[in-house]
Amino acid sequence: MTEEMRTAETIPADTAAAQPSEKKVWLVTGAGRGLGVDIAKAALAAGHAVAATARSVESITRALGQHDDLLAVPLDVTDQGAAQAAVAATLERFGHLDVLVNNAGSFQAGFFEEMSPEAFRSQIETTLFGPVNVTRAALPQLRAQRSGLVVTISSTAGIASTGDFLTAYAASKFGVEGFMEGLASEIAPFGIRTMLVEPGFFRTELLTPQSTQYAPPSITDYADRTAVTIEAWRGMDGKQGGDPAKLAAALVQLAALEQPPARFAAGADAVELFETKARTLLAQADAHRELSSSLSHGDA
Ligand SMILES: NC(=O)c1ccc[n+]([C@@H]2O[C@H](COP(=O)([O-])OP(=O)(O)OC[C@H]3O[C@@H](n4cnc5c(N)ncnc54)[C@H](OP(=O)(O)O)[C@@H]3O)[C@@H](O)[C@H]2O)c1
Repeated sequence: MTEEMRTAETIPADTAAAQPSEKKVWLVTGAGRGLGVDIAKAALAAGHAVAATARSVESITRALGQHDDLLAVPLDVTDQGAAQAAVAATLERFGHLDVLVNNAGSFQAGFFEEMSPEAFRSQIETTLFGPVNVTRAALPQLRAQRSGLVVTISSTAGIASTGDFLTAYAASKFGVEGFMEGLASEIAPFGIRTMLVEPGFFRTELLTPQSTQYAPPSITDYADRTAVTIEAWRGMDGKQGGDPAKLAAALVQLAALEQPPARFAAGADAVELFETKARTLLAQADAHRELSSSLSHGDA
């Protein structure tokens, strides 16, 4: 398929007829609860237009009310067709799309051996394939515009997995780090930027039963640690240091830069974790430098 054909096929014909908004247009996933609500609010407050998406449109209206520049769109990020429809609805209403925020998330928590394959897979579906689906839906428009920013809310768990219960979550977040980092050079020539955001602990609903599912204890060897770890995670709910409204305002500020950062460490805890990980990698590169460097063919 030629470039022209792909563009013509993937941009809905009626898009050209939409009255383009003069405002920057944001599409935010998971905007019915948690950080996504704050991001939508901050973008609206900054004078942008927002397509707020969520599995339940009612949750968006409950959280954000009515606003001239707000469009509430149903979107389960695990559904590729729904992602295409959400982008199409955004273009129909606002005529263009400038900032996609892959925010929706959940937490499948538990020791790897106690977690069902279905639970592990559902984490990957939501926090890796979710951003993949929505980004796939948005890119034809951003490419046709020759501009845009794809923001993905990753996690410090996408930089380093520190502590128990994180195998599925960290796998998805490490995955999304690789996805975005790989994508960046492919789409930069079209004027499209990417920004990964790695929050530390922020006081949202992530650790509530609506968003966190604990693997049911099933293996005696883990029993004591399972009980202690569930209690520790539950105990953090509502006590996280990070303020999601401040993070949302920071994202609006960064998105306005000509060169948004490829990665943004969100929170003092995230900055510390970045630095620790960087030092760990340097030490690991150095630890077996001679052996690491001795693996070439003789003629290479
Ligand atoms: N809070 C933190 O400390 C923290 C730290 C690091 C990273 N993060 C990341 O920040 C992002 C936002 O999470 P949060 O902290 O705001 O958690 P939250 O308060 O639990 O909100 C999660 C949001 O994602 C939505 N969602 C879940 N599955 C979805 C799906 N399949 N399709 C569409 N929406 C879906 C939820 O909507 P429903 O109402 O439909 O469930 C909810 O709006 C996530 O990617 C999370 O991994 C958070």
